[in-house]
Amino acid sequence: MAVAKVRLGLGDVRARLQLLDPNSVDCVVTSPPYFGLRAGSKAMQQIWGGQPACRHEWTQHATRAVSGGTRTPKLKIKGSENFQTVPAQPFAACRRCGAWYGALGSEPTVDLYVAHLVEVFDRVRVVLKPSGTVWVNLGDSYSTNGKWGGASSGKHVNGRTPRVRRSDGGKPKDLLGVPYRFALAMQAAGWYWRSLIIWHKPNALPHPVKDRPNVDFETILLFTRSPRYFYNWKAMQEQATGEGNGNKRRLLNHQPEHRTNFKIGVPWQGADVRRGRAVWSFPTVPYKNGHFSTFPPELPRRCISAGCPAGGTVLDPFAGTGTTLQVAREMGRAAIGIEIEPRYVPMIAERLGISLNHIIRE
Ligand SMILES: C[S@@+](CC[C@H](N)C(=O)[O-])C[C@H]1O[C@@H](n2cnc3c(N)ncnc32)[C@H](O)[C@@H]1O
Repeated sequence: MAVAKVRLGLGDVRARLQLLDPNSVDCVVTSPPYFGLRAGSKAMQQIWGGQPACRHEWTQHATRAVSGGTRTPKLKIKGSENFQTVPAQPFAACRRCGAWYGALGSEPTVDLYVAHLVEVFDRVRVVLKPSGTVWVNLGDSYSTNGKWGGASSGKHVNGRTPRVRRSDGGKPKDLLGVPYRFALAMQAAGWYWRSLIIWHKPNALPHPVKDRPNVDFETILLFTRSPRYFYNWKAMQEQATGEGNGNKRRLLNHQPEHRTNFKIGVPWQGADVRRGRAVWSFPTVPYKNGHFSTFPPELPRRCISAGCPAGGTVLDPFAGTGTTLQVAREMGRAAIGIEIEPRYVPMIAERLGISLNHIIRE
């Protein structure tokens, strides 16, 4: 089999998306920076909103730095490398036109963060084929009393949800519902919100919180441009378990000639498999090179199996270390990555097992 092509665009996602051909991508699998999770790098700071022609007059702000505390299991594991400390996050607002300058995820309100994400996905829609699918992994956040708290639920970490500065009427300790706010905003922007998938992390670390359940999952949201789209349901079939599942009951109750679900018209699937379900359970996989939020390869593998035809093109507009690109290539799909942080390019090359020259950088 010929090695599938990988293209990488370095820069802000909105500018890079404009360089791609319209209607050229079959499937998007991605995870944007989460809201309030950690300070964005200098490279991540961009202008959002406002008037392009404005001679901006910036007022500088910074969110408060917050230590993640000293009592969590993660600290015991990571020692002084405290993942939970969120340094002060700088941003600026233009006094003239209201433009915002900062790193995606560092917005002072969840509404502004969601608006920025929707702006990105407006541009994704242009490059996506009408038959295309978009899979977005997003974690949630808790509101705190005017502070940024840094308990991370990133994919490298196990089982906590970040707390962020109080915003949008969230009372301290409120769960902000970031994935749901984003999904509703995407619907309002014209996307079809087709599924909410729970990614259950069986290796989630316990957390000493005593007034709510520990969080051991993140969400994956499936969006489409059109009501009809490519979806390989057969690739998502699962092993049926237990005597109580519907297929096995039907096997016992019906003669072979009656093996259809006549109520909803679903063809007989056989006794041992069932349609893929919306709770996916697989562990986080730590990544050594200091990128905090890498996908376990199983996550893009499932999305691509269901959402990208053989020989199609997969895009990750927030490529990070390139897990989606790696998996897409292994599955014989062409892959396009966009990443703003130059430090991650060598990691992408390493992940793909190729020299930097073999990645088509644009
Ligand atoms: C959650 S990480 C993605 C991790 C990836 N799924 C993996 O497996 O490695 C989000 C990535 O988005 C990148 N990013 C943040 N703002 C961006 C922007 N404006 N344009 C392009 N990439 C951006 C960050 O540098 C980061 O690597």
